[in-house]
Amino acid sequence: MNVSVFGLGYVGCVSAASFAADGHHVVGVDVNPDKVAAVNAGRSPIVEPGLEEQLAEVVGDGRLRATTDTAEAIAATDVSLLCVGTPSRKNGSLDLSYLERVATQIGAEIAKKPTYHVVVVRSTVLPGTTHEVVIPALERASGKKYGNGFGVSVNPEFLREGTALKDFRKPPLTLVGHNHAADASGTIALYQAIDAPLISTSIRVAEMIKYTSNTWHALKVCFANEIGNVCKRLGVDSHEVMDVFCRDDKLNLSPYYLKPGFAFGGSCLPKDVRALQYRAKEIDVDLPVISSILTSNRLQIEHALTEVLETGKKRVGLLGFSFKAGTDDLRESPLVILAEALLGKGCSLKIYDRNVSIARLVGANKAYIEEQIPHLSSLLCDTIDEVIDGSDVIVIGNKSSEFTPALERTRPEQIVIDLVRLPVPGALLQAEYRGICW
Ligand SMILES: NC(=O)c1ccc[n+]([C@@H]2O[C@H](COP(=O)([O-])OP(=O)(O)OC[C@H]3O[C@@H](n4cnc5c(N)ncnc54)[C@H](O)[C@@H]3O)[C@@H](O)[C@H]2O)c1
Repeated sequence: MNVSVFGLGYVGCVSAASFAADGHHVVGVDVNPDKVAAVNAGRSPIVEPGLEEQLAEVVGDGRLRATTDTAEAIAATDVSLLCVGTPSRKNGSLDLSYLERVATQIGAEIAKKPTYHVVVVRSTVLPGTTHEVVIPALERASGKKYGNGFGVSVNPEFLREGTALKDFRKPPLTLVGHNHAADASGTIALYQAIDAPLISTSIRVAEMIKYTSNTWHALKVCFANEIGNVCKRLGVDSHEVMDVFCRDDKLNLSPYYLKPGFAFGGSCLPKDVRALQYRAKEIDVDLPVISSILTSNRLQIEHALTEVLETGKKRVGLLGFSFKAGTDDLRESPLVILAEALLGKGCSLKIYDRNVSIARLVGANKAYIEEQIPHLSSLLCDTIDEVIDGSDVIVIGNKSSEFTPALERTRPEQIVIDLVRLPVPGALLQAEYRGICW
């Protein structure tokens, strides 16, 4: 490929040197003539292990050169990677001025080009930025329309400073966000030598994945540090704890518990988070991340309540009452809290949960149901259809397999609010469908 890389900072230099090492012809572009001169001399403008040697080799072989001249770079290449900075402003918002300027400069050159040019956003940008800032700037400056004369894709970078060259060679995945296949193919061709799963998705999803990843990494660091601070005060070796913790790849380091949906509940998580928080208070250890967990959980219950109330409908049906399918345990079920809040707001309720109905008759939870929540127990229906027939809003509270086929029997004037992302029956669903956070 003939590729231009705009911005010769950390991401740009590592990308330019690595693409050139893979056999592509690369033109690096920067507004800073010192960086351009350094690259052309085979010297690295940034400190990064192995980069100087890599640059010297590819510049020596004639596979990478640098320039301050956008016109020359666009004329000589088919794909341009935008690697300019997107720093924080004082208020935390993103400063997109470099990105908008480089898109405008590139657009002005695309205007003169007879061939299709693909612009790849590699800088980290919030969802919507490519559509709202980059594409309009390219269209304004080129006088051409997106998809007709030029294409755009998003290709976030997952390298870490200090191990950037190794990370480039072996990334967790190659992520390409695009809306047209033609724009993806130019981007994907750059990565033929890279051994990583290729994820092809929409532009907005690709933009958001980068923020989700970095926020997750930041959360992991702070979580581990807070656990470490508690451990130290309790005389427990935090590294031994986290080493063992990380060996559980079923529940701890896994996709489990990472699906957006409703609040957690049950007899363990709320109780145990509370207990750890209380112990930390006793030993004077601050846990700002861990202490915000129960607040966040409560807000998700309030969010569900608002979603139901905003429909303006008062006859509410609840499918699922225990905190997850396949259990009759109602202790700290967020659905019980939601049900009580709905009653408090003047809604009428019909509830169906097969396991809870059985438990009401027999079993260990009979006493809990009779003594703690008799006002809710009396609202339990024997069949799903009783709930569907008698409700204007149907809330799906857990993933019981009975619910998907039952939703086919909803009516067009009804609203289904899904808290768990049930596999919905698509065209067969008559009611209006709303997910709590999708
Ligand atoms: N540094 C990292 O490890 C890392 C990792 C992944 C993603 N990112 C993201 O990648 C982007 C770039 O980060 P960075 O750390 O490489 O930035 P950087 O500040 O090191 O480099 C940006 C470069 O862009 C140049 N530039 C600015 N305007 C230009 C223009 N109009 N034309 C040509 N060059 C121009 C600047 O002179 C500078 O050399 C950011 O969005 C960042 O969030 C960074």
